[in-house]
Amino acid sequence: MKKANVAVLVSGGGTNLQAIIDGEKNGIIKSGKVRLVVSNNPDAYALERAKANRIKRTVITKKQFKGAEGFEKELIRVLKDNKIDLIVLAGFMTILSKRFTDTFSRRIINVHPSLIPSFCGEGFYGLKVHEEALKKGVKVTGATVHFVNEIPDGGEIIFQKAVKVQEGDTPEKLQKRVMKQAEWKILPQAVEKISCEIINNK
Ligand code: GRF
Repeated sequence: MKKANVAVLVSGGGTNLQAIIDGEKNGIIKSGKVRLVVSNNPDAYALERAKANRIKRTVITKKQFKGAEGFEKELIRVLKDNKIDLIVLAGFMTILSKRFTDTFSRRIINVHPSLIPSFCGEGFYGLKVHEEALKKGVKVTGATVHFVNEIPDGGEIIFQKAVKVQEGDTPEKLQKRVMKQAEWKILPQAVEKISCEIINNK
């Protein structure tokens, strides 16, 4: 069966990358295959996960290419050379330009650790999202997988999953629960859904 070629873009720990790798192993992802992991951080632990699973990996940094434009050009070249059909942003700490998102329109997805449109947009990443959710006193938060366009966290929503806030939660505790109960579930499901749509439209 033909599969969509998937690239996962990472910057850090890579637990969402791991969820995708596991999703392929346990059959949740049948229509896509991770062919490439790209990190903008040479020290990302996500690269170790890729290595352990014999997935091709590469590091591209802004420093190396003297700024955002050269960095994005190289990223586009690598993604095209590897015939990537679907780009998954999994903890990728860089905002991509309109030129980049237009190049891969409806071919880029991202996982965000809140129920969009709450606690999202520029500046809302990592623990900050959960800190703000706790500050506001929401009783329910969660995660969203969405298409990526030029507006940070602004593209069409694919899947969302709610997670309850608990008494005594810290940002760290809430972050872990949101990952475990929502991100690691809906991200592989979204990879399958969009991969399936891509191969059927080909
Ligand atoms: C996750 O919370 C994800 O939603 C956010 O960054 C974090 C990445 O974690 N965009 P990991 O690198 O996948 O472990």
